[in-house]
Amino acid sequence: MIKALRGTKDILPDEIGLWQYIESSGRDIFNIYGYKEIKTPVIEDASLFIRSIGDATDIVQKEMYVFSDRGGRSIALRPEATASIVRAYIENSLFQAGGVSKLFYIGPMFRSERPQQGRQRQFYQIGVEAIGSDNPLIDAEVVALAAGFLEQLGIKKFHIKLNSLGCQKDKISVMERHKKSFKPYLEKLCETCKGRFDKNVLRIFDCKEPSCKTIAENIAVESALCGDCADHFEKVKKGLDIIGIEYAVDYKIVRGLDYYTKTVFEITQNDLGAKDAICAGGRYNNLIKELDGNDTPAIGFAFGMERLALALEKGSMPHALRPRANVFVAVAGEGFCGEAFKLLYSLRRSGIAGEIDYDTKSLKAQMRKAEKLGAKFVVILGEEEIKNKKVIVRDMENHSQKEVELEKIIIELRR
Ligand code: HAM
Repeated sequence: MIKALRGTKDILPDEIGLWQYIESSGRDIFNIYGYKEIKTPVIEDASLFIRSIGDATDIVQKEMYVFSDRGGRSIALRPEATASIVRAYIENSLFQAGGVSKLFYIGPMFRSERPQQGRQRQFYQIGVEAIGSDNPLIDAEVVALAAGFLEQLGIKKFHIKLNSLGCQKDKISVMERHKKSFKPYLEKLCETCKGRFDKNVLRIFDCKEPSCKTIAENIAVESALCGDCADHFEKVKKGLDIIGIEYAVDYKIVRGLDYYTKTVFEITQNDLGAKDAICAGGRYNNLIKELDGNDTPAIGFAFGMERLALALEKGSMPHALRPRANVFVAVAGEGFCGEAFKLLYSLRRSGIAGEIDYDTKSLKAQMRKAEKLGAKFVVILGEEEIKNKKVIVRDMENHSQKEVELEKIIIELRR
Protein backbone atom coordinates (compact mmCIF):
# COMPACT_ATOMS: atom_id res chain seq x y z
CA MET A 1 0.00 0.00 0.00
CA ILE A 2 1.29 3.47 -0.86
CA LYS A 3 1.31 5.65 2.24
CA ALA A 4 1.59 9.39 2.82
CA LEU A 5 5.23 10.50 2.99
CA ARG A 6 6.89 10.75 6.40
CA GLY A 7 6.22 14.16 7.91
CA THR A 8 3.09 14.74 5.81
CA LYS A 9 -0.49 14.22 6.97
CA ASP A 10 -4.02 14.03 5.65
CA ILE A 11 -6.37 16.46 7.33
CA LEU A 12 -9.49 14.34 7.61
CA PRO A 13 -13.14 15.48 7.44
CA ASP A 14 -13.52 15.20 11.22
CA GLU A 15 -10.59 17.58 11.76
CA ILE A 16 -11.35 20.03 8.99
CA GLY A 17 -13.86 22.04 11.06
CA LEU A 18 -11.00 23.08 13.32
CA TRP A 19 -8.85 24.15 10.38
CA GLN A 20 -11.70 26.10 8.81
CA TYR A 21 -12.33 27.78 12.14
CA ILE A 22 -8.65 28.85 12.33
CA GLU A 23 -8.73 30.15 8.77
CA SER A 24 -12.00 32.05 9.09
CA SER A 25 -10.97 33.59 12.45
CA GLY A 26 -7.72 34.67 10.81
CA ARG A 27 -9.51 36.15 7.80
CA ASP A 28 -11.90 38.05 10.11
CA ILE A 29 -9.23 39.64 12.29
CA PHE A 30 -6.79 40.33 9.43
CA ASN A 31 -9.60 42.08 7.62
CA ILE A 32 -10.31 44.24 10.69
CA TYR A 33 -6.62 45.24 10.73
CA GLY A 34 -6.69 46.06 7.00
CA TYR A 35 -4.79 43.06 5.55
CA LYS A 36 -5.65 41.56 2.16
CA GLU A 37 -4.99 37.98 1.13
CA ILE A 38 -2.21 37.03 -1.27
CA LYS A 39 -1.44 33.61 -2.73
CA THR A 40 2.00 32.89 -4.13
CA PRO A 41 3.29 29.68 -5.76
CA VAL A 42 4.64 26.85 -3.60
CA ILE A 43 7.61 26.49 -5.95
CA GLU A 44 10.14 29.26 -6.44
CA ASP A 45 13.64 29.73 -7.78
CA ALA A 46 15.82 28.21 -5.00
CA SER A 47 18.10 31.27 -4.97
CA LEU A 48 15.21 33.37 -3.61
CA PHE A 49 15.41 31.52 -0.29
CA ILE A 50 19.20 31.12 -0.30
CA ARG A 51 19.60 34.88 -0.68
CA SER A 52 16.93 35.86 1.83
CA ILE A 53 16.95 33.22 4.58
CA GLY A 54 20.74 32.91 4.37
CA ASP A 55 23.03 30.11 3.18
CA ALA A 56 24.38 29.37 6.69
CA THR A 57 20.92 28.72 8.15
CA ASP A 58 19.54 25.27 9.01
CA ILE A 59 16.59 25.88 6.71
CA VAL A 60 18.77 26.40 3.64
CA GLN A 61 21.59 23.99 4.56
CA LYS A 62 19.59 21.02 5.80
CA GLU A 63 15.87 21.45 5.38
CA MET A 64 15.01 22.94 2.02
CA TYR A 65 13.55 20.65 -0.65
CA VAL A 66 15.46 21.55 -3.82
CA PHE A 67 15.27 19.81 -7.17
CA SER A 68 16.30 20.43 -10.76
CA ASP A 69 13.38 20.71 -13.15
CA ARG A 70 13.46 19.43 -16.72
CA GLY A 71 15.08 22.64 -17.86
CA GLY A 72 17.89 22.20 -15.31
CA ARG A 73 16.64 25.10 -13.12
CA SER A 74 17.13 24.84 -9.37
CA ILE A 75 13.64 24.90 -7.84
CA ALA A 76 12.69 24.93 -4.15
CA LEU A 77 9.47 24.00 -2.39
CA ARG A 78 8.97 27.13 -0.30
CA PRO A 79 10.15 26.65 3.30
CA GLU A 80 8.38 29.88 4.32
CA ALA A 81 6.39 32.65 2.67
CA THR A 82 8.07 35.96 3.55
CA ALA A 83 10.66 35.73 0.76
CA SER A 84 7.96 34.76 -1.78
CA ILE A 85 5.79 37.69 -0.74
CA VAL A 86 8.65 40.13 -1.03
CA ARG A 87 9.37 38.70 -4.50
CA ALA A 88 5.70 39.15 -5.45
CA TYR A 89 5.66 42.68 -3.96
CA ILE A 90 8.63 43.72 -6.12
CA GLU A 91 7.64 41.80 -9.27
CA ASN A 92 4.05 43.11 -9.28
CA SER A 93 5.04 46.66 -8.22
CA LEU A 94 2.67 46.54 -5.25
CA PHE A 95 4.58 49.54 -3.86
CA GLN A 96 2.88 51.70 -6.51
CA ALA A 97 -0.30 51.72 -4.42
CA GLY A 98 1.66 53.81 -1.85
CA GLY A 99 1.47 53.57 1.92
CA VAL A 100 1.86 50.28 3.70
CA SER A 101 1.04 47.07 1.78
CA LYS A 102 -0.71 44.83 4.28
CA LEU A 103 -0.85 41.24 3.11
CA PHE A 104 -1.83 37.93 4.66
CA TYR A 105 -1.41 34.34 3.52
CA ILE A 106 -2.48 30.83 4.38
CA GLY A 107 -0.79 27.81 2.87
CA PRO A 108 1.58 24.86 2.99
CA MET A 109 5.34 25.20 3.59
CA PHE A 110 7.99 22.47 3.30
CA ARG A 111 11.01 21.71 5.46
CA SER A 112 12.79 18.40 5.68
CA GLU A 113 12.95 18.26 9.48
CA ARG A 114 12.75 15.26 11.80
CA PRO A 115 8.99 14.87 12.23
CA GLN A 116 7.39 14.90 15.68
CA GLN A 117 4.18 16.21 17.17
CA GLY A 118 3.75 19.78 15.92
CA ARG A 119 6.66 19.46 13.51
CA GLN A 120 6.10 18.22 9.97
CA ARG A 121 7.77 18.25 6.60
CA GLN A 122 4.68 19.72 4.97
CA PHE A 123 3.11 22.11 7.46
CA TYR A 124 0.78 25.07 7.14
CA GLN A 125 1.35 28.66 8.06
CA ILE A 126 -1.03 31.57 8.46
CA GLY A 127 0.78 34.87 8.54
CA VAL A 128 0.92 38.56 7.67
CA GLU A 129 3.44 40.97 6.18
CA ALA A 130 3.22 44.77 6.48
CA ILE A 131 5.57 46.28 3.89
CA GLY A 132 6.39 49.99 3.68
CA SER A 133 6.95 51.51 7.13
CA ASP A 134 9.55 51.51 9.88
CA ASN A 135 7.20 53.15 12.36
CA PRO A 136 7.54 51.35 15.73
CA LEU A 137 3.77 51.55 16.16
CA ILE A 138 3.45 49.19 13.18
CA ASP A 139 5.62 46.72 15.13
CA ALA A 140 3.32 47.11 18.14
CA GLU A 141 0.28 46.69 15.87
CA VAL A 142 1.68 43.51 14.30
CA VAL A 143 2.48 41.96 17.71
CA ALA A 144 -0.97 43.02 18.96
CA LEU A 145 -2.56 41.41 15.90
CA ALA A 146 -0.82 38.10 16.64
CA ALA A 147 -2.02 38.24 20.27
CA GLY A 148 -5.51 39.28 19.15
CA PHE A 149 -5.70 36.32 16.76
CA LEU A 150 -4.89 33.90 19.61
CA GLU A 151 -7.48 35.57 21.83
CA GLN A 152 -10.09 35.42 19.09
CA LEU A 153 -9.42 31.70 18.70
CA GLY A 154 -9.81 31.24 22.46
CA ILE A 155 -6.17 30.12 22.93
CA LYS A 156 -4.86 31.13 26.33
CA LYS A 157 -1.60 30.66 28.25
CA PHE A 158 0.61 32.20 25.59
CA HIS A 159 3.73 34.30 26.16
CA ILE A 160 5.24 36.93 23.91
CA LYS A 161 9.03 37.17 23.89
CA LEU A 162 10.42 40.31 22.32
CA ASN A 163 13.89 41.46 21.26
CA SER A 164 15.60 43.82 18.87
CA LEU A 165 18.53 42.72 16.72
CA GLY A 166 19.16 46.29 15.62
CA CYS A 167 20.32 47.51 12.22
CA GLN A 168 22.96 45.80 10.05
CA LYS A 169 25.77 47.52 11.99
CA ASP A 170 24.26 46.46 15.32
CA LYS A 171 23.92 42.89 14.10
CA ILE A 172 27.66 42.86 13.48
CA SER A 173 28.43 44.14 16.99
CA VAL A 174 25.85 41.73 18.49
CA MET A 175 27.68 38.92 16.68
CA GLU A 176 31.02 40.12 18.01
CA ARG A 177 29.63 40.04 21.55
CA HIS A 178 28.22 36.56 21.04
CA LYS A 179 31.54 35.38 19.63
CA LYS A 180 33.26 36.59 22.78
CA SER A 181 30.70 34.75 24.95
CA PHE A 182 30.93 31.49 23.00
CA LYS A 183 34.72 31.48 22.59
CA PRO A 184 35.54 29.76 25.93
CA TYR A 185 33.16 26.91 24.94
CA LEU A 186 34.31 26.54 21.33
CA GLU A 187 35.82 23.08 21.85
CA LYS A 188 32.63 21.82 23.48
CA LEU A 189 30.38 22.87 20.58
CA CYS A 190 29.26 20.32 17.95
CA GLU A 191 31.09 20.29 14.60
CA THR A 192 28.28 22.24 12.88
CA CYS A 193 28.35 24.94 15.56
CA LYS A 194 32.14 25.22 15.30
CA GLY A 195 31.52 26.18 11.66
CA ARG A 196 28.68 28.49 12.70
CA PHE A 197 31.01 30.28 15.13
CA ASP A 198 32.86 31.78 12.17
CA LYS A 199 30.09 31.94 9.59
CA ASN A 200 27.12 33.15 11.65
CA VAL A 201 27.41 32.84 15.41
CA LEU A 202 23.70 33.60 15.98
CA ARG A 203 22.81 30.23 14.45
CA ILE A 204 24.35 28.47 17.49
CA PHE A 205 21.16 29.46 19.31
CA ASP A 206 19.16 27.27 16.87
CA CYS A 207 21.23 24.13 17.53
CA LYS A 208 19.24 21.14 18.72
CA GLU A 209 22.31 19.29 20.13
CA PRO A 210 21.81 19.07 23.94
CA SER A 211 25.38 20.17 24.76
CA CYS A 212 25.17 23.25 22.50
CA LYS A 213 21.69 24.03 23.85
CA THR A 214 23.01 24.01 27.44
CA ILE A 215 25.92 26.29 26.52
CA ALA A 216 23.59 28.69 24.68
CA GLU A 217 21.17 28.75 27.60
CA ASN A 218 23.86 29.57 30.12
CA ILE A 219 25.79 32.33 28.42
CA ALA A 220 24.96 35.87 29.45
CA VAL A 221 23.65 38.08 26.66
CA GLU A 222 22.95 41.79 26.78
CA SER A 223 21.56 44.27 24.36
CA ALA A 224 23.99 46.06 22.05
CA LEU A 225 21.92 48.53 20.07
CA CYS A 226 22.91 51.87 18.56
CA GLY A 227 21.03 54.97 19.70
CA ASP A 228 18.48 54.89 16.84
CA CYS A 229 17.68 51.20 17.20
CA ALA A 230 17.48 51.44 21.01
CA ASP A 231 15.03 54.34 20.60
CA HIS A 232 12.99 52.32 18.04
CA PHE A 233 12.81 49.37 20.42
CA GLU A 234 11.74 51.63 23.32
CA LYS A 235 8.90 52.97 21.17
CA VAL A 236 7.77 49.45 20.18
CA LYS A 237 7.62 48.50 23.88
CA LYS A 238 5.81 51.73 24.74
CA GLY A 239 3.28 51.06 21.97
CA LEU A 240 2.57 47.64 23.44
CA ASP A 241 2.36 49.09 26.97
CA ILE A 242 -0.19 51.70 25.85
CA ILE A 243 -2.58 48.99 24.63
CA GLY A 244 -1.86 46.63 27.52
CA ILE A 245 -0.18 43.78 25.60
CA GLU A 246 2.05 41.79 27.94
CA TYR A 247 5.50 40.68 26.77
CA ALA A 248 8.92 39.78 28.13
CA VAL A 249 12.16 41.08 26.63
CA ASP A 250 14.49 38.17 25.85
CA TYR A 251 17.86 38.98 24.26
CA LYS A 252 18.29 35.36 23.21
CA ILE A 253 15.51 35.58 20.64
CA VAL A 254 17.70 35.75 17.51
CA ARG A 255 15.47 33.85 15.02
CA GLY A 256 16.60 31.14 12.62
CA LEU A 257 16.45 33.25 9.44
CA ASP A 258 19.08 35.82 8.47
CA TYR A 259 16.83 38.54 7.07
CA TYR A 260 15.72 39.95 10.42
CA THR A 261 16.67 43.42 11.65
CA LYS A 262 15.40 45.39 14.69
CA THR A 263 12.24 43.93 16.29
CA VAL A 264 11.94 40.13 16.51
CA PHE A 265 9.44 38.14 18.54
CA GLU A 266 8.23 34.65 19.32
CA ILE A 267 5.03 33.49 20.94
CA THR A 268 5.07 30.27 22.93
CA GLN A 269 2.09 28.38 24.29
CA ASN A 270 2.09 26.20 27.42
CA ASP A 271 0.16 23.26 25.98
CA LEU A 272 2.61 22.61 23.16
CA GLY A 273 5.50 21.10 25.13
CA ALA A 274 8.93 21.16 23.48
CA LYS A 275 7.60 22.46 20.15
CA ASP A 276 6.06 25.43 21.85
CA ALA A 277 6.68 28.25 19.34
CA ILE A 278 3.24 28.83 17.93
CA CYS A 279 4.17 32.06 16.15
CA ALA A 280 7.30 33.94 15.17
CA GLY A 281 8.12 37.09 13.29
CA GLY A 282 9.94 40.34 13.10
CA ARG A 283 11.28 43.16 10.97
CA TYR A 284 13.24 42.62 7.80
CA ASN A 285 14.12 46.16 6.76
CA ASN A 286 16.90 45.19 4.32
CA LEU A 287 15.28 42.25 2.53
CA ILE A 288 13.40 44.14 -0.16
CA LYS A 289 16.55 46.01 -1.18
CA GLU A 290 18.60 42.80 -1.03
CA LEU A 291 16.13 41.21 -3.46
CA ASP A 292 16.62 44.15 -5.86
CA GLY A 293 13.60 46.19 -4.80
CA ASN A 294 13.56 49.70 -3.35
CA ASP A 295 14.86 50.36 0.13
CA THR A 296 11.62 49.46 1.95
CA PRO A 297 11.17 48.49 5.61
CA ALA A 298 8.79 45.67 6.53
CA ILE A 299 7.60 43.43 9.36
CA GLY A 300 5.47 40.29 9.67
CA PHE A 301 4.78 37.03 11.45
CA ALA A 302 3.67 33.47 10.78
CA PHE A 303 1.75 30.99 12.92
CA GLY A 304 2.18 27.24 12.52
CA MET A 305 -1.36 25.98 11.89
CA GLU A 306 -0.72 22.43 13.18
CA ARG A 307 0.39 24.05 16.44
CA LEU A 308 -2.71 26.25 16.56
CA ALA A 309 -4.88 23.16 16.02
CA LEU A 310 -2.96 21.30 18.74
CA ALA A 311 -3.38 24.15 21.23
CA LEU A 312 -7.11 24.24 20.48
CA GLU A 313 -7.44 20.47 20.89
CA LYS A 314 -5.57 20.51 24.18
CA GLY A 315 -7.20 23.62 25.55
CA SER A 316 -10.48 25.31 25.05
CA MET A 317 -11.68 24.01 21.72
CA PRO A 318 -14.89 25.78 20.81
CA HIS A 319 -17.72 23.28 20.58
CA ALA A 320 -19.86 22.69 17.51
CA LEU A 321 -16.89 22.79 15.12
CA ARG A 322 -18.07 19.59 13.53
CA PRO A 323 -20.11 20.21 10.39
CA ARG A 324 -23.64 19.17 11.25
CA ALA A 325 -26.86 18.64 9.36
CA ASN A 326 -29.63 20.80 10.77
CA VAL A 327 -32.39 18.63 9.42
CA PHE A 328 -32.57 14.90 8.81
CA VAL A 329 -35.32 13.67 6.52
CA ALA A 330 -36.60 10.23 7.54
CA VAL A 331 -39.09 8.03 5.72
CA ALA A 332 -41.51 5.61 7.34
CA GLY A 333 -41.71 3.19 4.42
CA GLU A 334 -39.71 2.80 1.23
CA GLY A 335 -42.47 4.07 -1.04
CA PHE A 336 -41.95 7.67 0.08
CA CYS A 337 -38.35 8.05 -0.93
CA GLY A 338 -39.33 10.17 -3.94
CA GLU A 339 -41.29 12.60 -1.70
CA ALA A 340 -38.41 12.73 0.77
CA PHE A 341 -35.89 13.35 -2.02
CA LYS A 342 -38.02 16.26 -3.28
CA LEU A 343 -38.41 17.75 0.20
CA LEU A 344 -34.68 17.49 0.89
CA TYR A 345 -33.93 19.19 -2.44
CA SER A 346 -36.20 22.14 -1.58
CA LEU A 347 -34.73 22.44 1.93
CA ARG A 348 -31.20 22.61 0.55
CA ARG A 349 -32.24 25.11 -2.12
CA SER A 350 -33.52 27.39 0.62
CA GLY A 351 -30.20 27.15 2.44
CA ILE A 352 -31.11 24.61 5.12
CA ALA A 353 -28.44 21.94 5.65
CA GLY A 354 -30.21 18.60 5.36
CA GLU A 355 -29.32 14.93 5.17
CA ILE A 356 -31.03 11.65 4.33
CA ASP A 357 -30.05 8.00 4.40
CA TYR A 358 -31.12 6.41 1.13
CA ASP A 359 -29.97 2.95 2.19
CA THR A 360 -31.42 2.44 5.66
CA LYS A 361 -34.82 0.78 5.85
CA SER A 362 -36.12 1.01 9.44
CA LEU A 363 -37.24 4.31 10.95
CA LYS A 364 -35.40 3.43 14.16
CA ALA A 365 -32.08 3.12 12.31
CA GLN A 366 -32.75 6.43 10.58
CA MET A 367 -33.36 8.13 13.92
CA ARG A 368 -30.07 6.73 15.21
CA LYS A 369 -28.30 8.09 12.15
CA ALA A 370 -29.92 11.52 12.68
CA GLU A 371 -28.65 11.54 16.24
CA LYS A 372 -25.15 10.58 15.14
CA LEU A 373 -25.11 13.44 12.64
CA GLY A 374 -26.18 15.86 15.37
CA ALA A 375 -29.36 16.89 13.52
CA LYS A 376 -31.49 19.46 15.34
CA PHE A 377 -34.71 18.31 13.68
CA VAL A 378 -35.94 15.17 12.01
CA VAL A 379 -38.70 15.52 9.43
CA ILE A 380 -40.65 12.26 9.15
CA LEU A 381 -42.67 11.34 6.09
CA GLY A 382 -45.15 8.46 6.28
CA GLU A 383 -48.20 7.29 4.39
CA GLU A 384 -50.70 9.22 6.53
CA GLU A 385 -48.66 12.41 6.31
CA ILE A 386 -48.21 12.27 2.55
CA LYS A 387 -51.96 11.74 2.13
CA ASN A 388 -52.72 14.79 4.30
CA LYS A 389 -49.85 16.84 2.89
CA LYS A 390 -48.32 17.03 6.34
CA VAL A 391 -45.04 15.93 7.94
CA ILE A 392 -43.95 15.25 11.49
CA VAL A 393 -41.17 17.51 12.79
CA ARG A 394 -39.27 16.08 15.74
CA ASP A 395 -37.12 18.42 17.83
CA MET A 396 -34.10 16.29 18.74
CA GLU A 397 -33.01 18.55 21.57
CA ASN A 398 -36.21 18.56 23.66
CA HIS A 399 -37.68 15.36 22.12
CA SER A 400 -41.02 17.02 21.32
CA GLN A 401 -42.75 16.58 17.98
CA LYS A 402 -45.57 18.16 16.04
CA GLU A 403 -47.37 17.99 12.71
CA VAL A 404 -46.57 20.68 10.17
CA GLU A 405 -48.17 21.31 6.80
CA LEU A 406 -45.78 20.31 4.03
CA GLU A 407 -46.23 23.74 2.44
CA LYS A 408 -45.10 25.53 5.60
CA ILE A 409 -42.18 23.29 6.47
CA ILE A 410 -39.45 25.71 5.36
CA ILE A 411 -40.98 28.64 7.29
CA GLU A 412 -41.38 26.38 10.33
CA LEU A 413 -37.80 25.06 10.23
CA ARG A 414 -36.41 28.56 9.76
CA ARG A 415 -38.41 29.71 12.75
P1 HAM B 1 9.59 30.45 11.42
O1 HAM B 1 9.97 30.71 12.84
O2 HAM B 1 10.54 29.65 10.62
O3 HAM B 1 9.36 31.87 10.75
O4 HAM B 1 8.16 29.76 11.36
C1 HAM B 1 7.03 30.37 11.94
C2 HAM B 1 6.18 29.33 12.65
O5 HAM B 1 5.87 28.26 11.75
C3 HAM B 1 6.85 28.64 13.83
O6 HAM B 1 6.76 29.42 14.99
C4 HAM B 1 6.04 27.37 13.94
O7 HAM B 1 4.83 27.61 14.63
C5 HAM B 1 5.72 27.06 12.49
N1 HAM B 1 6.65 26.02 11.95
C6 HAM B 1 7.89 26.18 11.50
N2 HAM B 1 8.43 25.01 11.09
C7 HAM B 1 7.47 24.07 11.28
C8 HAM B 1 7.37 22.66 11.03
N3 HAM B 1 8.37 21.97 10.48
N4 HAM B 1 6.21 22.02 11.37
C9 HAM B 1 5.17 22.70 11.90
N5 HAM B 1 5.20 24.04 12.14
C10 HAM B 1 6.32 24.72 11.83
C11 HAM B 1 8.99 32.04 9.44
O8 HAM B 1 8.65 31.16 8.70
C12 HAM B 1 8.93 33.50 9.02
N6 HAM B 1 8.60 33.56 7.59
C13 HAM B 1 7.92 34.26 9.84
C14 HAM B 1 7.84 35.71 9.46
C15 HAM B 1 6.89 36.27 8.70
N7 HAM B 1 8.72 36.63 9.74
C16 HAM B 1 8.35 37.78 9.20
N8 HAM B 1 7.23 37.57 8.54
